[in-house]
Amino acid sequence: MRQKPVPTGRETSFGEDEIIVSKTDLKGKIVYCNKVFIRVAGYPEAELIGAPHSIIRHPEMPRAVFKLLWDTIAAKREIFAYVLNMDAHGNGYWVLAHVTPSLSDDGQVIGYHSNRRKPTASAVDKARALYRDLLAIEKAPPSRKDGMAAAYDELVSRLNLMKLDYDEFALSL
Ligand SMILES: Cc1cc2nc3c(=O)[nH]c(=O)nc-3n(C[C@H](O)[C@H](O)[C@H](O)COP(=O)(O)O)c2cc1C
Repeated sequence: MRQKPVPTGRETSFGEDEIIVSKTDLKGKIVYCNKVFIRVAGYPEAELIGAPHSIIRHPEMPRAVFKLLWDTIAAKREIFAYVLNMDAHGNGYWVLAHVTPSLSDDGQVIGYHSNRRKPTASAVDKARALYRDLLAIEKAPPSRKDGMAAAYDELVSRLNLMKLDYDEFALSL
């Protein structure tokens, strides 16, 4: 696998009428992605299929958000989340992701599916501010584990204050 790009600090985007789609196995390895995904991520399809989804992870994304995402979908629930991704050139792009588990006939989770739309500018501003706070909390302690736990608590307590689940929260931004 090629080295992760260095973040440029610039952001790109995609069309309001476009949907970025991917499907993963149980561990988050990409098993399918559509043409819009390939174009926006900027990697050849062959490098995406079989790669962990973190191939497009942006370093400014708090780990606490991914913990909430994984806890939710592994419990067979859906989640809406704002995510800042990073393309092959190091440019960021914001998405509003709807991530769902795929179930077998007998109700077992057999993989996951994500559809992403372009978020509004005002939602991006709010997500950016929240994630900046969470990332600062995450990076403060010397131990990564402690930092993530503190940021996760902060995220949950902010949602409780607003009396919202994360998915309702994401949609209300
Ligand atoms: C269906 C699905 C879609 C995902 N989409 C993204 C995505 O677009 N960007 C991203 O950074 N992580 C995405 N993830 C989460 C990654 O699997 C991973 O948890 C995250 O990138 C953090 O990686 P790390 O734990 O290696 O830091 C997705 C996971 C699933 C199951």
